[in-house]
Amino acid sequence: MKLNRLIGSSPDTRGCEVSVLTQRRGSLTHKNCRLEYGVTRRVLLVGPWALKVPAVTEWRLFLLGLLANMQETLWSKTGWPELCPVLWSVPGGFLVVMRRARILTEDEFLALDMESWVDRGDYIVPAEIKSDSFGYLDEADFVNCQLVAVDYGN
Ligand SMILES: Nc1ncnc2c1ncn2[C@@H]1O[C@H](COP(=O)(O)OP(=O)(O)O)[C@@H](O)[C@H]1O
Ligand SMILES: [Mg+2]
Repeated sequence: MKLNRLIGSSPDTRGCEVSVLTQRRGSLTHKNCRLEYGVTRRVLLVGPWALKVPAVTEWRLFLLGLLANMQETLWSKTGWPELCPVLWSVPGGFLVVMRRARILTEDEFLALDMESWVDRGDYIVPAEIKSDSFGYLDEADFVNCQLVAVDYGN
């Protein structure tokens, strides 16, 4: 089966299970890996981390991806609890390492009033209102479970 058919067959997003791909490519082998395709970035989800790099398909998108990574690095420094924390980054926006969240399903997104949620009173969470901009951290922990924005670099 061709690689793009594997990607296209992913049930919920344009992402693909790297564990499946690697059997074809022979590179990554970790089962808990996933590759997601954002508008301006590619995001490798590995264990508890999300590694974001600019897309290289087009020069314009690459530049926007650099800017988005730089923006997220800056915004994360506010310490606002609604932003998925950037743990580490490379200057210039070439790489951002974030905590990995569990992205909202469409049903969860529709059940939540995210328009209101982003308005915190003192500030607005800078995320586009769509399901894959948000996710949960520490979902298994009833006390510390936290809804966060994962795409706030635009
Ligand atoms: N911290 C994260 N944890 C889990 N998944 C993430 C995280 N950040 C991004 N993703 C996934 O990767 C996709 C693309 O990342 P995103 O930040 O939206 O890139 P872009 O700005 O290029 O759209 C997201 O829609 C989401 O599915
Ligand atoms: Mg996005």
